[in-house]
Amino acid sequence: MTTLLDSPAGAAVENTRSVGHPVTFAPAALAAFAAAYPDFPAPLTHGLADHPLLTVDAIAALADRLPGAQVEYNPGKLPLSITAEDTPRPTLSIAQTIRTIGDNGSWMVLKNVESDPAYAALLDAALEPLRAVVESRTGPMAHREAFIFLTSPGSVTPFHMDPEHNILLQIAGGKVMTVFPAGDTMLVPAEKSEGFALGAHRNLVWDEVFRDRGTAVPLEPGDAILVPVKAPHFVHNGDRVSISFSITWRSERSVAEGELHSFNRLLRACGLPLVRVSARPERQKLARLGYRLMRRLVA
Ligand SMILES: [Fe+2]
Repeated sequence: MTTLLDSPAGAAVENTRSVGHPVTFAPAALAAFAAAYPDFPAPLTHGLADHPLLTVDAIAALADRLPGAQVEYNPGKLPLSITAEDTPRPTLSIAQTIRTIGDNGSWMVLKNVESDPAYAALLDAALEPLRAVVESRTGPMAHREAFIFLTSPGSVTPFHMDPEHNILLQIAGGKVMTVFPAGDTMLVPAEKSEGFALGAHRNLVWDEVFRDRGTAVPLEPGDAILVPVKAPHFVHNGDRVSISFSITWRSERSVAEGELHSFNRLLRACGLPLVRVSARPERQKLARLGYRLMRRLVA
């Protein structure tokens, strides 16, 4: 298994550690981001580990304020491969889950915390230093969202993918994220991408033969990782309560990739030849136009 710290981006992170990082992303972390975005995962560092909005108490207060639909919590002792339907239902309330997170074996996420003004400001401040690089490579930073993960010691987040550009900032406790390359059809078959583009669940089927394709990235408070759109990953939490803050955005590239897989779902259903989804799907303007026309015809 390779290590991301062997890469140029990793060397930049080492520089960050020695200089310190009083702001969300110090210059060396920004350089590591710029070296990797948007195609490759990269370890980064950040300065939010002691932020008062990201303590257990602040998160518990936020969970009380958010609508119930924005708080998802599950038992955290899960196998790497599990379907949404087979995931056991929680037996504790949200408040009980947070209060006893140290020993209840749970995994919880507060979704779209930017709906709260204080967290919206935190998300904007964290993303602003990245905007110039993002806009120059993948267009405007759209659909900005933030998530907070609170997990019990030993919890496992099963093998899955996400539709956004994501930076996961480790705030408390430790975890190891094993991340795999995006666009590997052995890991994510085309049919899965097509279903995912149309709303199918994020979880993927795990096979041990995949393991050597992944990179295990340890995350301690102050560490972060850039996770490309649909780069498969799973997470093992360490022996302490873990808090992670995820800052995400969409781009013309992520939208185009979803459109082309949706197009292929329609083409496949009609028995027609599929389009190739390239590494630069935003440039496939003819195919994207074809999708929009076909969607109108079948609507
Ligand atoms: Fe994820």
